[in-house]
Amino acid sequence: MIAKLILDKKREGRALGTAEIREFIDGFTRGEIPDYQMSALAMAICCRGMTGRETADMTDAMMRSGRCLEWDFPTADKHSTGGVGDKLSLVVQPLAAACGVRVPSLTGRGLGITGGTADKLETIPGYNASLSLDDFQRVVRDVGVSMTVQTEEITPADRKLYALRDVTGTVASIPLIVSSILSKKLAEGASVLVFDVKCGSGAFMKTREDAQALARALVDGAKSAGRRAAALVTDMSAPLGRAVGNANEVAEALSILRGEVAPERADVALSVELAALMVSLVREAPLDEVRAECLARLADGSALARFEAMAAAQGGDLAAFARFMERPTFKFRIQAMRSGYVSAIDAEKVARVAFALGAGRMAAGDRIDPLAGVTLSVGVGDRVATGAPLATLERSESPDGLESAAADLLKAFTISHDAPELGPLILERMD
Ligand code: URA
Repeated sequence: MIAKLILDKKREGRALGTAEIREFIDGFTRGEIPDYQMSALAMAICCRGMTGRETADMTDAMMRSGRCLEWDFPTADKHSTGGVGDKLSLVVQPLAAACGVRVPSLTGRGLGITGGTADKLETIPGYNASLSLDDFQRVVRDVGVSMTVQTEEITPADRKLYALRDVTGTVASIPLIVSSILSKKLAEGASVLVFDVKCGSGAFMKTREDAQALARALVDGAKSAGRRAAALVTDMSAPLGRAVGNANEVAEALSILRGEVAPERADVALSVELAALMVSLVREAPLDEVRAECLARLADGSALARFEAMAAAQGGDLAAFARFMERPTFKFRIQAMRSGYVSAIDAEKVARVAFALGAGRMAAGDRIDPLAGVTLSVGVGDRVATGAPLATLERSESPDGLESAAADLLKAFTISHDAPELGPLILERMD
């Protein structure tokens, strides 16, 4: 009966009380409130929205549905709302750890065209991305950084609710997205949270306004839960860096960590900025000072050493990864049909091609091809001659589909006569 009254209230657009939200989520987690009532509430929230206070209560109730970790040292984590070629966590998290901040990072697997950090890490032979919470805590304590998928014990309410939202058309709601993301991040126990909210064709949020609203809600929600937080709204109209896939993204992250990519390149600069933001919020120190320290830790190999130590602590063998990358694959190269400037590379189109090659999964549990993906030879703003390589498509199991995928990939590139005006990757910061 109480569930029905709560549903009536939200359908009429009235704000729910803290106890009502808690009771509903607790009842749903225990299986006493059936899926159809939870789905009805999700739809009512989609249509009627939630106040900041209700969102905070929803987040808190979901966070408390499972185990909440606590640390006795300063911790920080970065969350990205998901982009194309977004391997930044593989650089940012070890870089922050190299500056002395411990980074407990519970991460996800990819679904649809969105990649998942766990899938990328699992291309390192032996890497265990499914640690128990005890092992996760041990690696964070000993190495300073751990990346693993969230276990069953963390926010079970979110796992159940997300599965329902996925099939009831209730994913696209800011209060539901915020409570889903934040409940997991808060349960992880990090005292500082930095959000990279992507905006553009390759992002969940296609417009600047939607990305701003999500960034504001994430920062406000984290702060109301007593954490220090900030967000960067960043452009996701073109892929980040050159690699889009899984193993190729790990290889690119390693080359950034080895100092083989100029720190001025936009994806490296964004990685440094995100790590610097995490560290400066932990220390309450000026960002400029910390940014210089992050650049130094990247240049002197300390961030690479943290990544290597994390991989080793989680069973990963980087020498075997290097051999794995040498395996023969089926490749197809696309070339510029005319000369000019690369003025756009449509992130969503590139992601769809990488997905079609086998880099992503249609349904949870599907197998991915770790070596499948796209590696760009150029970035936006580069000048190309007719016939110059634009990108290589790759898959390991068969050459089938490579040629048609190549035709689709070509459509992602715009080559124009004049040099394009390059916009900034970081659109704004929110505190
Ligand atoms: N990611 C999440 O974890 N939850 C959402 O609702 C959307 C994106």
